[in-house]
Formats: sequence, C-alpha cells, structure tokens
Amino acid sequence: MIVGAQWGDEGKGKVTDLLAERADSIVRFQGGNNAGHTIIRGNETFKLHLVPSGILHPGKTCIIGNGVVIDPGVLISELDELRRRNVDTIGLKVSANAHLIMPYHLLLDSEGEAKLGELKIGTTKRGIGPCYADKAARLGIRVQDMLDETILRKKIMTAMEPKRQELRPFARDPMLDLHTMTEAYMTFGHRLEPHIADTAALVWNDLQAGKEVVFEGAQGALLDIDHGTYPFVTSSNPVAGAACVGAGVGPTAIDEVWGIAKAYTTRVGSGPFPSELDDDIGDRIRDTGGEFGTTTGRPRRIGWLDLVALRYASRINGLTGLCITKLDVLSGIETLRIATGYRTDDGAEFKDFPYHQSVLHHAQADYVDLPGWQEDISGARSLEDLPQNCRDYLNFISDSLGVPIVLIGVGPERSQVILSGDRAAELA
Ligand code: GDP
Ligand code: IMO
Ligand code: MG
Repeated sequence: MIVGAQWGDEGKGKVTDLLAERADSIVRFQGGNNAGHTIIRGNETFKLHLVPSGILHPGKTCIIGNGVVIDPGVLISELDELRRRNVDTIGLKVSANAHLIMPYHLLLDSEGEAKLGELKIGTTKRGIGPCYADKAARLGIRVQDMLDETILRKKIMTAMEPKRQELRPFARDPMLDLHTMTEAYMTFGHRLEPHIADTAALVWNDLQAGKEVVFEGAQGALLDIDHGTYPFVTSSNPVAGAACVGAGVGPTAIDEVWGIAKAYTTRVGSGPFPSELDDDIGDRIRDTGGEFGTTTGRPRRIGWLDLVALRYASRINGLTGLCITKLDVLSGIETLRIATGYRTDDGAEFKDFPYHQSVLHHAQADYVDLPGWQEDISGARSLEDLPQNCRDYLNFISDSLGVPIVLIGVGPERSQVILSGDRAAELA
C-alpha cells in the first residue's frame, strides 16, 4: 500500500507506477479528482486525477474503488486523453458502488469557500466535500445509478431538494436542470458501462490467486478528515486503514504499507504548517522542485522536513517502509533544518503531534541543523553514489522514525530512484 505521509503531492504517482510494473492490479480507494498524480516516462508527462497510476503498464487491472468519488465527465476526459496518447485503458474497472460528483456539488464547494471568506479551506473546488457529505447523508448518487434512468432521475430530485435554499443563486444555471442533468449522466453511464464492475470481488479474486495488488492512496495523512489538521483537511481518509473500506478488502490482506514523504514539506490550501518557510530558501525549493499544484496550478507552501508530523503519520498508518522523494531538490543548500519538536509562545514544548488545534495553530518548529551537500545527485542509483551528508540526512530520518527507508527519489523521471533494503533486489 502506498500512502501520502504529509499533506499530499509527495510523489505517490511515481512510486505507484514503479510498483505497478510487477503488480497485477492497482487500486485507488479514496479521494477523487482533487488528486493529481504525476508520472514522467522518458520525455512524456502524465497527470492522472482519477485513473490509477498503473495504467501506463499494459495488461494491468486498474481499479477505482468504492471509496473514491467520481466526476464522470472528468473520468471520461482522462480516458480520452490517455487513449489519444496510445495508452490502453481496457483494464480500467470502476466500482458500481462509488459515489458520483454531481454539478451541484461543484457549485456548493465554490459557494461554501466563498462564504468562509478568509477562513476558507482552500479546496480544489472539485466538489469533493459536498459529494462525501451526501454519501454520509445517504443522498448520494452512485455509479450504478447511471444505468437506470428512472432511479437516476428520482435520486437526483431527492438529493437536490434539501439543497434548494443553498442552490437558489444558481437557479437558472442550465447545469442544474433535472432533465439536462439526468440525460448527461445517462450518457456518461453508457460510456462507462464496459468499465463498471464489482471491484471488491475483482480484488478478492486476485488476492485469492496469490497475485499482487497495489493500493494507491491520494492526498496524505495530515489531510485526513479524522487524523489531519481539521477542518483544513479533505473529506476522506487517506490513511492506510481506509484502503480496506475503500477497496472492500479485509485488513489481513495488507502485507506492507509504504509512506511517501518529500525530503522537505509542502502544503496547498490553508491550515497550520509549523515548519513553513517564508524566505528565499522556500522560494528556491519551490522553483527547483516545481512546487505548483498538479490539479489547480496553485503555488505550494514550502517548509523544512517535519519529523513531528512524519512520526505521527508513521504511527497512524502503521508504516513498514518510507519513501523519501525529491532529495535532489535539496542539493546546494548549505544547511538543512529538520523539525524535531514544536513550541508555543508560552514556552510549552511538544515532541509529539499535538491533538489540540489551538496548540497546532500557534506551534513553531524546533530544529536540528544538518550540513547540506553541493553535489548533483540526480544520477545516483545506489546509496553509495550519494554524498556522506546526504546519507546522514536520510539516516537521521529513519533513525528518528524507526522505519526503514525503502526508496529514495533523486529526480522526477521513472528511473531516478534508489531502492534500498530487501525490496531493492526484488524490484530491480
Ligand atoms: P502525488 O500527488 O503524490 O502523486 O505527487 P504530485 O505528482 O502531485 O507531485 C510530485 C511532483 O514531484 C511531480 O511533479 C513529480 O514528477 C515530482 N517528483 C516525484 N518524485 C521526484 C523526485 O524524486 N525528484 C524530483 N525532482 N521530482 C520528483
Ligand atoms: P494528491 O493526491 C495536495 C487539499 C486542498 C485543500 C484540502 C481540501 O495529489 O496528493 P478538497 O478539494 O479535497 O476538499 O480540498 O485538501 N488537497 C490536496 N493537497 N494534494 C492533493 O492530492 C490534494 N487533494 C486535496 O488543497 O487544502
Ligand atoms: Mg498531487
């Protein structure tokens, strides 16, 4: 299982693509097209929002599980774009139980943010929150509903009814016309029908046959609706435990959980960020690392690596391995800082991630300083190729977390990785 161990955009797409080569199926289990997962193959760049990052390997089953929220128009555009680029999409399977993002969800997301004003969450405005809200309220429309016009129409009517007040400003929006919406979603349904399946059964069959399944998380632990920096979070559970629910497998099926973390930290959207940098080094990392949102293009907020948050993410995910990506981006910085604790204005110190929002919102990070390295490491393919300071930086992280580093990213391209430990031989 691949999960984000920070605030998203850690490089999950790249690691999933790498593991997909030897897997049989790849399953997305939560989130929606708020995610943007980048895979770089040679000089081609793919940005995937809904389709699992295994799709570039022909012959794999790529599953969008029941826990994902799907904007069917976006999914169809993504499939069209992949086909245009000669990627075979026949292996894509979509859970009949996954919930659909509807036009009113998009409007409610934007409207909700506008109403919050300065307190806004900074969502991707893709309708994610309102869609999960309807799911919990049992007013959701599911993928299977697109296959029955009578049911679809009735469910849309029932779902829109309690939102009438909030949707009043958009009363004349043609997107909200019941007839137009039903027609549009029926058309999406026809188009997606060959892909619709009982995906939990597909995963079960693969597991029974001893095949390898990769679960691909979206977002990251600190954006988790239960465990993250609420309310500045997404509306699903990106933590490992959610994969079982969102794919329909029992926890005994999971052998390994790899957390993906950048060698520094980024965050898009509002919310606390104790190790945030607001200086030239932050700007430099943003430029070198290309830290602009894959989905919305927004500049990402930048900070030093935060071991308090990462230790927390490691605990709530039960990580068995850690992948440190974008280590190359730190080359050339004289002194690197790592946050090892937090403190508040009244002098209180925290070694563990504080549960109380008032603490977290005022927390400043305490750092240890480590010497940086000047060398370009993008060509390194083994630990021995890395400068000593670089290895010390990695060892400091794995020693502090008590989790082995299994993969190191030294550039955006598929081949720019160092595999370490037992898995290296298997994957090489
Ligand atoms: P995801 O959402 O977790 O899949 O990550 P994103 O694709 O949103 O953002 C990660 C960005 O970092 C992408 O542009 C990747 O191409 C890039 N990337 C991934 N790993 C590395 C790495 O090791 N080094 C560098 N320089 N870029 C990387
Ligand atoms: P991947 O999978 C980074 C953030 C948004 C916002 C908050 C809520 O590429 O790592 P939402 O639209 O989900 O209601 O927004 O969550 N967010 C992400 N940040 N990477 C993502 O996905 C994100 N998906 C949502 O910026 O702060
Ligand atoms: Mg991303």
